[in-house]
Amino acid sequence: MVKVLFVCLGNICRSPLAEGIFDKMVNEQGLQDQFTIDSCGTAAYHIDSQPDPRTVANAKQNGLILNHQARQFDGSDFQNFDHILVMDRSNLGNVRIFEEFNEVTSKVELMRTYDSEEPNADVPDPYYGGDQGFQKVYDILYRSCGELLKRLG
Ligand code: 4NP
Repeated sequence: MVKVLFVCLGNICRSPLAEGIFDKMVNEQGLQDQFTIDSCGTAAYHIDSQPDPRTVANAKQNGLILNHQARQFDGSDFQNFDHILVMDRSNLGNVRIFEEFNEVTSKVELMRTYDSEEPNADVPDPYYGGDQGFQKVYDILYRSCGELLKRLG
């Protein structure tokens, strides 16, 4: 079983979308028995919330139904997951603090390590922007998830 965790700040925009896209790709390839997939946020603002309505609408336009209840990243995630994909450098910094505290080997990578168009850039935070930002995030995550699955599948 390969356990994959997607991490952003609020767990209502980028990471639940990454989870939904990756889960759909895994299912389309018939690999669902081989993966555990989840997402979370480094902040506590939106614990228990469903994804942002703008993320839900964008996902729907792209043929994806999202159903995820936000939760906060926790030190136990280092034990429970093999691959931790963070959306930006700020998330990376926050997760690294937990990492040092828990003295664990790094399993953390920037999501766009897997984006051939702009490797190692941040996935931009769409929360304070317009609708276009959500489609841009979708396109980035679609490319990155496809490449990630090629590596892990
Ligand atoms: P996310 O976006 O990290 O992609 O879920 C955000 C969601 C909420 C906030 C910031 C970013 N916020 O400040 O509440």
